[in-house]
Amino acid sequence: MDLESFKGKPEASGATVFVCAFFEDYTSPEGLSFSKKLGLEKVFKSLNFKSEYKECITVPSDSITLIAVGMGKKGESSVERFRVMYSRGLAEARKLNPSTVAYAMSGVMEPEMEAYEISYTCRVTEYRFSEFKSDREKSNIGKVLVASEKDLSEPVRKGDVVGKATNLTRDMANMPPSRGTPSFFEKKAKEIPGLKVTVLGREDFLKLGMGGLEGVSRAATEPGKLIIAEYKNSDEPPILLVGKGITFDSGGISIKPSQGMEEMKFDKCGASAVLGAMSAISGMKLKAHVIGMMPLTENLPGGNAYKPGDILKHYNGKTSEIISTDAEGRLVLSDALSYGVEKFNPKFVVDLATLTGACVIALGNNIAGLMTNNESMNEKLMKASENTWERLWPLPIDEDFKEQIKSEVADIKNVGGRAGGSETAGAFLSNFVGDKPWAHLDIAGTAWSQEHTAKKDYLSKGSTGFGTRLLFELVSNEIK
Ligand code: BES
Ligand code: MN
Ligand code: ZN
Repeated sequence: MDLESFKGKPEASGATVFVCAFFEDYTSPEGLSFSKKLGLEKVFKSLNFKSEYKECITVPSDSITLIAVGMGKKGESSVERFRVMYSRGLAEARKLNPSTVAYAMSGVMEPEMEAYEISYTCRVTEYRFSEFKSDREKSNIGKVLVASEKDLSEPVRKGDVVGKATNLTRDMANMPPSRGTPSFFEKKAKEIPGLKVTVLGREDFLKLGMGGLEGVSRAATEPGKLIIAEYKNSDEPPILLVGKGITFDSGGISIKPSQGMEEMKFDKCGASAVLGAMSAISGMKLKAHVIGMMPLTENLPGGNAYKPGDILKHYNGKTSEIISTDAEGRLVLSDALSYGVEKFNPKFVVDLATLTGACVIALGNNIAGLMTNNESMNEKLMKASENTWERLWPLPIDEDFKEQIKSEVADIKNVGGRAGGSETAGAFLSNFVGDKPWAHLDIAGTAWSQEHTAKKDYLSKGSTGFGTRLLFELVSNEIK
């Protein structure tokens, strides 16, 4: 499916199927003459279409088909509402098998903004994880046009690039655990144009004293890796992005119950989001300097596995007592964070991780936990979160939580009890960033969706790609 901008009235685009938003009282979007031509008000009434939010109908006529999506009251409209309804419009269009679909602009948003959203929404709506299906569902829509009197090819391209990057994140995360290995990440990272990719392996973990990565990856069959992808298109100090990449989390010796364990292929969603974001940043050639780090390994049991009671020494010299080998994410992140902070002296650091089940309980499936050591990081991230609707909510990591992870035998321990499980995990990580501005996003609840969990309409079951667009937005907002 191609995404293009069409300069002119939608009717002139040659498309036969149109998607168009309507507000309360059938207010029709700017510049659209369908309304009069088709006598829409009568038709809508006869079809009982009230243009309430989430209503969607198909109005056929001789030459063209109009898919009207309801947006409700103008005052209640939001970017997220548009995404939801434009996605439903595309799903309706699909049923008609058209070669080209044209979107008419609503005129409610800035045209650049709306074009970006239409194109992003279409791209992520079309996504299917179908590599392993023998009856692959192919999209029949060859082209989507965003019609406007203005030339909107740049924002349409941006939506396309960021949408594709989100889909790359989803592909990485959805990949079965025996295929989506650290080596697979290396291969994919090296395929992205504009990135300089460095890979550290077991020998480096030992040499550099990365005891967390070494310990967690010790019983893995697939070799563990720390992948570092650099995008440099400015002389500024870099922004450092770090993503948890446990390609399968069995829990290790502290093994998880087998019920639902298949979902732990999604424990690589943080690393997947970092890779996706790097591809979007590079794809848009942002005037930025960004480093993406992905500590990747399986967490498996075995005779040589690290054990509860073990003490590991991390890259920055701090030691941690292992209470549970299932609290492995913080152990690999600690080495990546402290190494990245020291080696690259970044402007600031953001890590993303499917870190704790507690975060799912606390914030549910549409909001990620935001923990930070710096007020301005809080602002930056909340701002990036606002328009992307990749929602965040702050959680505390102050002294009380640091107290909870003190150890008798080491500097800290990797579990601080059940109370405040997300916050003690965040407090653990804070030991590895010094006083660099840093934020930790716990995406355990938002990174993938199941049948029964709350999910966004434009994202199918499985990986949501959460974080990709957020990080792209965050980096974009830093460009002067
Ligand atoms: N990857 C899991 C966290 C997780 C669990 C994410 C369920 C999404 C859904 C993480 O490695 C883990 O196992 N965390 C433990 C920590 C505990 C042992 C302190 C958890 O949350 O139970
Ligand atoms: Mn675990
Ligand atoms: Zn995990």
